[in-house]
This record gives sequence, C-alpha cells and structure tokens, in this order.
Amino acid sequence: MIQYDAERRTLTLHTRSTSYQMKIDATGVLLHTYYGEKLRKGDLSRLICPEDRGFSPNPDEVGLDRTWSLDTQPQEYSSSGVGDFRQPALEADLADGSHIVDLRYVGHTVADGKYALEGLPAFYDEGVAAQTLTVELRDKCSGLTVELLYGVLEEYDMITRAVRVRNDGAAPVQLTRVASACLDFFTGDWDFITLGGAYAREREPVRTTLTQGVHTVGSVRGSSSHQQNPFLVLCDRDATEDTGCCWAMALVYSGNFQATVEHTQFHETRMTMGIHPFHFCWRLEPGESFTAPEAAMVFSRQGLGHMSRMFHRAIRLNLCRGPWKDARRPILINNWEATLFDFDADKIYSIAQAASKVGVEMMVMDDGWFGQRNDDFGGLGDWNVNQEKLPGGLAPLAERIKGLGMKFGIWVEPEMVNENSDLYRAHPDWAFQAPGRPVTRGRYQLVLDLTRAEVRQYILDNLRTMLKSADISYVKWDMNRSLTDVWSAGLPAERQGEVYHRFVLGVYEILEALHQEFPQLLIEGCSGGGGRFDCGMLYYTPQIWCSDNTDAMDRLRIQYGTSYCYPCCTMGAHVSAVPNGLTHRSTPFHTRGVVAAAGTFGYELDLNELSPEELEEVAHQIAAFRNYWDVVMRGDYYRLTDPFRHECFCAWMHVSPDRTRAVVSVVQTQRHANPVRPLLRMKGLDPDKDYLVEGKVYGGDELMYAGLALPFLDECQAVQYQIKEV
Ligand code: DGJ
Repeated sequence: MIQYDAERRTLTLHTRSTSYQMKIDATGVLLHTYYGEKLRKGDLSRLICPEDRGFSPNPDEVGLDRTWSLDTQPQEYSSSGVGDFRQPALEADLADGSHIVDLRYVGHTVADGKYALEGLPAFYDEGVAAQTLTVELRDKCSGLTVELLYGVLEEYDMITRAVRVRNDGAAPVQLTRVASACLDFFTGDWDFITLGGAYAREREPVRTTLTQGVHTVGSVRGSSSHQQNPFLVLCDRDATEDTGCCWAMALVYSGNFQATVEHTQFHETRMTMGIHPFHFCWRLEPGESFTAPEAAMVFSRQGLGHMSRMFHRAIRLNLCRGPWKDARRPILINNWEATLFDFDADKIYSIAQAASKVGVEMMVMDDGWFGQRNDDFGGLGDWNVNQEKLPGGLAPLAERIKGLGMKFGIWVEPEMVNENSDLYRAHPDWAFQAPGRPVTRGRYQLVLDLTRAEVRQYILDNLRTMLKSADISYVKWDMNRSLTDVWSAGLPAERQGEVYHRFVLGVYEILEALHQEFPQLLIEGCSGGGGRFDCGMLYYTPQIWCSDNTDAMDRLRIQYGTSYCYPCCTMGAHVSAVPNGLTHRSTPFHTRGVVAAAGTFGYELDLNELSPEELEEVAHQIAAFRNYWDVVMRGDYYRLTDPFRHECFCAWMHVSPDRTRAVVSVVQTQRHANPVRPLLRMKGLDPDKDYLVEGKVYGGDELMYAGLALPFLDECQAVQYQIKEV
C-alpha cells in the first residue's frame, strides 16, 4: 500500500511486514526517513535532529539556517556538487561544463500494478497485489528530470526501484552515473555482506564490519562476474540466520555494476547500487531519456534466512518467466565433462542410451557440435552443424534421442567469435576492437559487438534456424570471457561510453526475442559456470549453471553462498565423475547426488562407465528426486549450518509451504577421531505436527528444539531424510 500524507508531505510504502518512508522537505528535497519493520503511522523526519555542523554547507533557500545541509540530510536520491559530500546517485557532465545536479520534488503519482521497464528485466506483478509510485524530481537549471519508480510487492516484503532520467533541457547532457537505488539510514553500526569469489569458487559470502568510509564492490568485466555478485546485505552485527535486522538489495542486471556502502562521519549509512560508472557515459539529447536497471530490496527482522526466503519466492514466481518457472525441469545429462570436444553423434547417442535406461529425461549436447569447433581455438560464431561429427545435421540425432523417450538440448555461446571462424573472416569489425590497437583474447575468443543491430540479427537468425532445424527443448547459453577492447564501430566517439550497457541490452533483446518466439524453450544461463548469475539473467533463463566446479564438497559452499539471494530451483547442479576434474577429490556417488538434488539436478558424466551399483544408485537418486522435487523447488529453504565455518557437517533443508513435508540433507565435511555428538536441529517445521523420519515419529517441536542425532559419518559421506507429517 502506498500512502501520501498531504499535510506532512510524507510518502509511505507498506508491504506485509515492512514500511518505507520519504518526506518532501520544505526546500523540495526528497528526504528518506525510514525503512524497516512495519509502522502504523508517523512522520519519521522527526529523527533528523537539525544541528549546525562544521563544514556542512547550507543551500541558498534556507537562508542563514546553518542546521540544514544536504551533507547531513538523509536523501532519497542524492544530488551532486551542492553540499552532499557522500556518494552521489546521479552525476552528469552538463553543456556548460559544470557537473552540478540539484534535484527537487516536482510531483508524484500512484498506480495499481507494478511498472515494467522497456528492454530491461524486472520483477512483475502477475498473481500478486502490487502498486507503483512514481516520484518526479528536477534539476531546474539543466532541465534534467528524474523519475523514481517504486514497485511495492506486498506479499514478498519487496520494494523495487528503478530510475528514468529525461533531458528536458535545451542542450545535450552526458550522464556519468545513474544509481538504480540510493538508501540512507540514520544509523549503521552494522555488518555488510557481499558475495565475492572467483571462477569455480563463486559467491562466497564475505561479512565485514562497517567502518567509516566508502566500501565498494562491483564488476567492470562487462558481466556481473564470478568475482562479485550484484547483491548486498546490511545487517545487525549480531544478526544470524534466524535473528536480527537485514536490509538486502539485488540489482536486476547482468553487466558492470557497483554496490557501495558509505559509513559517514556521523555513523549514518548510505547504500547505493547501479550500473558501474567505469567507462559509463550516456549522452542524452534534448527530449531523450535513459532508464537505469531495477534494484530489488527486502527487509527482514528475522535474520538472513527469512531475507533469503523472501527473495527466493519473489524470484521464482515473479521474476523467472515462462512455463518452466514453477515446473519440474527435465533431469538432464550433459556430455561436457565426459567428452569435452571429442564426440560425434554416436557418442552422444550412447551416453543418452545409457542414461535413458535409468530414467534421465534429456540429453544435452555441449560445446563442439558446430563449425570447426574441435578445440577452443576456433569455430565460435559459425552456428552451422559440423557434418563430420553429426552427419545430416541436428535433426537425425534429436530424433534418435527422442526415440529413447528423451528430450534433446544443445549448447551455444552466441555472444562470442573466434578469429578462426567464417564469421570473423567475413566481418572482423563485428568483434570489439579499438582503432589501432591489438585485440585482447580471452579463451582464444573475442566478443561480438551486440550494440550493432546487424550483429544481433545474425545471432538471432542463426539461433532461429538452429531451433527450427530439430526438436530442441533446451538451450545452454554460455559466455566464456570478460569484455575488453570495448569500442564499437557502430557508434560515434561521443557515444562510446554507452557500449558496455548497450551490449547488455543487446543480450536481453536477443533473449527476449527467443522467449517470445519459442515460449516452451528452457534456457539455462551459463558463463564459465556461474559468472553471470544474477536477477537480470533469471528473467530470461529460469536456471543458471551454478559453477564449473562440480566437486560435491566445493559445491556445498557455492550453493550455500548462492542461496543468500537465489532460489535452489535456479541453480544448475549435476552429478559428475570422480576424481573431480578441478579438485581431484573423490566423493561418494550418493553424496554427489544429495548435493546436485539441491539444485536443478542432472548428470555430467558417461553412464556407460559406471558400475552396476552406481547405475542402481543413479536410478534410485532419480526416483527419489521425482518424489520430492516440489519440496526443493517450491518449499522454503533453510541453511542449517555454514560450510565456511569449521563445522563437521554441512546441512540444509527444504520444507513444503504447508509444512507437511521436508527434505533434510547432511554432508560430513570433516571427520575427527573420537568425534563430538552430531546433533542437528531442524527449522521451519510445524511444532504442533508429528513427522515420520526414517520409520520413527517425532514432534516438529522435538526435531526443531532438541534435534535429531545424526549417524557418525565418514568424511564426504552424506545422509538425506525425507520427512512427512503423520
Ligand atoms: C563453460 C561451461 O561452464 C561448461 O559447462 C561448458 O559448457 C564449457 N564452457 C564449454 O565450452
């Protein structure tokens, strides 16, 4: 619900359990006065405490009042160059050479339903109550007009924000920073949590005590990256999984981003998130406008677990789209780790054949089926079938696989090109390369300039042709390098600062066209594993390959960190062969199944090479997953231990929304001699219900408050309990 109190000039947004307040100050500055637990009423600007602060300047309209300064006022969308020395939300190079932006309130509107953003991913309101608030601010002098958009998704305790900047002035303007959200707090003796990491070690939670200064993370790699994720949490210093206040923000965007927390001289806090200002410069001619991507915010008073569960539900039901968003995904087998580039139609068929016998439902043919793609030196860009490997094209193989009762899926990497390709030989200027400079290669490949319509058209035409040439149910969309040499032959010099963002818009445009034209197609996002795992991609691809690291022990950490924001049903997770190719570790087959079943679940090996016992285990894993997939996908997820702390086991559980069923998974991460008693306290059950666990009945209260004694497991062993109300 959105309330405007005309007398107090407050705008208050209410979700089911949270409130968010702004106030239009007498000067016209839009102040931010509250975000937290739900309030019935009140004007929280009373907390501002005016004070004459040294070196905090005062705007002309407050006259000689030295207590009013932008430097100390909590702002909704901060100006720059007029007295607020904290992180600005908006920066621009104006025609007269100045960089000053001073935003004042013009008006606001409230509408039912949630706004959408043209060309950009965003949460939507299908099936849930939602409202939109639009507040208009203007910098009188330049004519820059800012529309702040707020979407209120009550049920998820989520408030989304986006920003449109319009040039209502008479001269061109260059935008150099447009934050999607800026959030000021009066206090901030808090911690902040980011998701750091690396290739094969994605999304490791990093918790840091907030100290005075500007703390920033981000990506300038052209994608959201393995190294940092567009997600940030501020929380009480003693916040745990189940207690404490947490304010979290996720950017619905897949390109360069910056997330900043500033802790000020007066221990106030400002959180901002948006497109990274690195090499960003967007030219607005008079009348033109620019839309910054959406940021989604959640407040939880019940710790990090509740915060995650709010994001999980909203992402699954109101960000992911298409028929697959809430449906069981096919249990697939992918040939990559089994064959790398060394395969042909018969090899793929033989993997599929073995898999079909134990219940696998889809065969995915990975990298290497097209052009001269026999290694990673060539072929990218040539999306024609390699006839030596697949005589007659994709259709005969797809049909043979269909004959096994399986679906067929395929890998692509449309944003890239190898110099050794027909595409590059015909159009060298379609790859990013700055004039007069040599190229910078990544995995021997270059990045296609998706800012150009003809390049996007080429990709779309090729994908269309491929998808129509055979019965293809699934596409794995990969992206295996970061962007460099970012310069487009299709744009004038003064617009080169737009290339990074236009590239992302190009990716979205192609994905949107596919979504419209092939609505049944399941697309899995991928970027060398989880290098582009973000809310932006999830709008187009309801699942994303979580990491190239399929080692079950390492995956515990990767999936744990990923779950801070993203639901399990979005995490591509497969059982692979041992010793693991990246870690050289061997883990039991059962453990690999338990870990993969906390994601989309599939296989990444050649089942022909398994022992009869292992094949039996595969059949068992598949039958079990079919039985409880809905609990994993639609249930509430609880992190029971933290695999980054030196605990002996890692445990998590999924509880069905009606709390009648649960799946509890435990993996022994360390084993010591004469070990301590392994007790596990569950979460999320109904204390008044009785549950059947391994043939015995326990009260939900018992299982949660006293716990269950786990067996003494060896290192890397796992145990899984499927629990039912009796
Ligand atoms: C990186 C992906 O993450 C892998 O799963 C595989 O598809 C390779 N690319 C293929 O080149």
